Amino acid sequence: MDVLRPRHIMTKVCITMLLVLSSAVLSSCHCPPDRIKNISHCAFHIHCYGEIRGVQLPNECREATNDPVTVDVTVTDAIEAFNDNTDLDFLNTITSLKLSGRWQQTKLTILMYTSRLQHLNLVNNGIETILDYPFSYLNHLEILNLSYNKLTDIEELFQFQIQPNQLKRLFLAFNAIQELPGDAFGELTSLVELDLSHNQISDLTEEPFYNLTKLEILRLNDNKIKDLNGAVNCLQYLKHLYLRGNQIQNIDEESLKIIKHLETFDVSKNELEQVKPIMLSRHWDHFTNHSICKIILSGNLITSVPNASSIEVSSRFSRNLDKHNVHLYTELDLSLNSISNIEYNAFQSLIRLISLDLSKNKVIDFKVDGNDLANIKYLNLSNNYISRLYFETFSSMTNLQNLDLSYNQLDFVSDMTFNSNYNFKIVNMTHNLIEKLDSVHLTFHPEGGVLDLSNNGLYRLNIPYGDGLRLITLILHSNNISDPSLVDLSHHTELQTLDLSNNLIGELDPSRLKLPEATLVYLDLSYNKIQYIAPSTFSTLRHLKTLRLSHNYLTKFEYGTFAGLTDLWHLDLAYNTIGYLDSKYLMDLKYLHVLSVRSNDMNVLDLSSWYGHRFDLRVYVDNNNLTCEWLGKVLRDFNNGYTKVKPTVLVAAGKGPHTVEGIPCMANESQSLTDASRYVIADERLLITSQKILEAVREQNYYFEKYVLQAIHKEVGKD
Ligand SMILES: *[C@@H]1O[C@H](CO)[C@@H](O)[C@H](O)[C@H]1NC(C)=O
Ligand SMILES: *[C@@H]1O[C@H](CO)[C@@H](O)[C@H](O)[C@H]1NC(C)=O
Ligand SMILES: *[C@@H]1O[C@H](CO)[C@@H](O)[C@H](O)[C@H]1NC(C)=O
Ligand SMILES: *[C@@H]1O[C@H](CO)[C@@H](O)[C@H](O)[C@H]1NC(C)=O
Ligand SMILES: *[C@@H]1O[C@H](CO)[C@@H](O)[C@H](O)[C@H]1NC(C)=O
Ligand SMILES: *[C@@H]1O[C@H](CO)[C@@H](O)[C@H](O)[C@H]1NC(C)=O
Ligand SMILES: *[C@@H]1O[C@H](CO)[C@@H](O)[C@H](O)[C@H]1NC(C)=O
Ligand SMILES: *[C@@H]1O[C@H](CO)[C@@H](O)[C@H](O)[C@H]1NC(C)=O
Ligand SMILES: *[C@@H]1O[C@H](CO)[C@@H](O)[C@H](O)[C@H]1NC(C)=O
Ligand SMILES: *[C@@H]1O[C@H](CO)[C@@H](O)[C@H](O)[C@H]1NC(C)=O
Repeated sequence: MDVLRPRHIMTKVCITMLLVLSSAVLSSCHCPPDRIKNISHCAFHIHCYGEIRGVQLPNECREATNDPVTVDVTVTDAIEAFNDNTDLDFLNTITSLKLSGRWQQTKLTILMYTSRLQHLNLVNNGIETILDYPFSYLNHLEILNLSYNKLTDIEELFQFQIQPNQLKRLFLAFNAIQELPGDAFGELTSLVELDLSHNQISDLTEEPFYNLTKLEILRLNDNKIKDLNGAVNCLQYLKHLYLRGNQIQNIDEESLKIIKHLETFDVSKNELEQVKPIMLSRHWDHFTNHSICKIILSGNLITSVPNASSIEVSSRFSRNLDKHNVHLYTELDLSLNSISNIEYNAFQSLIRLISLDLSKNKVIDFKVDGNDLANIKYLNLSNNYISRLYFETFSSMTNLQNLDLSYNQLDFVSDMTFNSNYNFKIVNMTHNLIEKLDSVHLTFHPEGGVLDLSNNGLYRLNIPYGDGLRLITLILHSNNISDPSLVDLSHHTELQTLDLSNNLIGELDPSRLKLPEATLVYLDLSYNKIQYIAPSTFSTLRHLKTLRLSHNYLTKFEYGTFAGLTDLWHLDLAYNTIGYLDSKYLMDLKYLHVLSVRSNDMNVLDLSSWYGHRFDLRVYVDNNNLTCEWLGKVLRDFNNGYTKVKPTVLVAAGKGPHTVEGIPCMANESQSLTDASRYVIADERLLITSQKILEAVREQNYYFEKYVLQAIHKEVGKD
């Protein structure tokens, strides 16, 4: 009884905390006033702990009212039995109840008094056994959620005092149900949705769904079912059937007749070896306008997709005529099988196929009747063994937007293959064997498109004038491009992003870079072998914002290397071997905001030409050999507002001897050099010293001008 004492004390405290909710006085500790929320007139959300006690609804909501009364109660650490303290009148008003607790075995006696309950949630309570038919009193129950328990035996569990009952949705997912006795759901003639997913069901021979004549959604995914045994044959109104993750090898003819009704038929991750033509055809009878029929057969053992049979085809066309104004579509997923053979009329019975996934199969030739694919928007042929594409297959696909041909064996794409496609948004041909593309006709969607030709061994690409219309992003990374002049993109006046990273380019000069003028915004040349960039190489790229040159072999620049890049915001020079960088070579970059010189073994970064830079410029200096002296000075100048150039690092260090403001740096030269080395570089140091004096003078002039001018302005302002 020790346990009860604190509760006793708490009750006393609580009674003093009265909440006046309109005309009602609600007070309780089990159901604390601050957890009682009035959502609208006579609609309440109430949270209780342990028991439901001491809650009183306003009179107007208790007696018969015109308005519907909704009382939604959640009980944590619930006691599922009712006892002397339980307020029976209040129980009788609850419409929605969620109980959370731990009960291996329960009679749920509390449910004897919740006669108006419509929605009962008993999720995740560790329940193994439910005794004494507690649901039988719930004549208004519409939704019952028993998911995430440990139920094994459900025979006789769903029985009701009054027939017909109202139960529409029953959730039993994630339990341990093995057997489905024939009468388990016999009374549930109103049921619309039944979720039995993630159980141990293997056998359906007892026709457990026989009386579920109104059922529309049946989830049996992730069980151990080998055979449907006609269990769904009586479900005339079934629309969505989920069988993913079972061991089904075969579907009998009778069951297939029901499957013809289905809007969703998901039998992925099973052991089917055959696609029967009838699996792909549909009645469409209870489909509403704009329905999408989803047929999901991925992850099976299918090797072949046969021609549609003549019966199926003729019924497709006759049905199509009946409802010529109804917009119905099909999505077919055959991915992750072993399909090597697709017959010419394989897709003929499908109405308006918009999405076809054949990825991860063994397709060598994709040659089917293009007319069956006229509506297709998404076609995934990735991860197959396709080595050539057929014009007659693609010629009717005028709606195709997303074509994935990645991971195939294409070494050649004939000029005319895509001649009739005008709506490409993404064409992905990465990981093929295309070494050159000379005049392929490609036209992209009015909103623009992406072409991915990365990982191909490509060394030559030429998309002639009038082709590649509306190509906005071109991805050419990881190819074999050593001479960039063989990639002629000068006609691509809409190209904005070009990725040439991870190729073999060694040198760049204006004649070698055949890029469109003006439009390019992003150019990636990282991970090449670039040693030299001739002056004016980028001079036509007036709108370029980002230029990546990291991971190359660059050591130095000249005047004019970056001429013309007046809009450049971000220059990445990381991972080169630029030991000495003088900002005077970057003076053309008037708009620069971010410069990375990370990991260059850089000894000298001379920022003096940037003292007048107009924009904040972050310079990433991680992993170089710049001295603390240099860093200290540049940061001081920045902090004092003399310059807008701020050295920074991606990876900050803590406070240490060789850091300034968290930026690691090299110890000052004088301390780190030995006497011997001092002699060797004495001359050089003299030179640097005199340069520094010169610099200082120049700087002084700059500040002098700045401050004098400011002072003059101020004086003028005063007048
Ligand atoms: C509940 O709140 C509504 C306003 O949202 C109010 O009109 C109504 O009177 C309240 N009812 C009670 C019983 O407090
Ligand atoms: C039943 O409970 C599970 C687990 O909380 C939840 O995912 C599911 O949406 C619930 N179903 C309904 C209809 O509330
Ligand atoms: C199925 O429903 C009928 C009446 O609709 C009823 O007679 C029969 O007992 C039910 N079957 C089971 C197994 O409960
Ligand atoms: C499938 O249809 C095509 C075109 O009508 C035909 O050439 C082919 O022989 C058919 N395949 C079989 C196995 O009947
Ligand atoms: C189906 O939707 C389309 C487009 O919204 C409309 O033109 C057509 O009339 C609709 N058909 C029916 C039968 O409602
Ligand atoms: C095509 O399928 C592959 C493999 O199943 C998948 O990784 C890829 O994302 C799919 N492509 C698209 C564009 O969805
Ligand atoms: C092309 O496919 C590859 C492999 O699935 C993927 O990594 C890449 O992002 C795709 N390209 C585009 C532009 O979507
Ligand atoms: C790249 O080109 C070289 C010759 O220029 C050739 O030896 C090599 O095989 C090519 N690599 C690929 C992946 O095609
Ligand atoms: C930079 O400093 C590291 C040691 O911190 C040294 O190993 C390396 O040789 C130096 N590089 C240059 C170019 O001075
Ligand atoms: C390096 O020299 C600067 C100025 O000469 C001095 O402020 C700084 O403390 C020195 N740093 C180290 C680590 O000796």
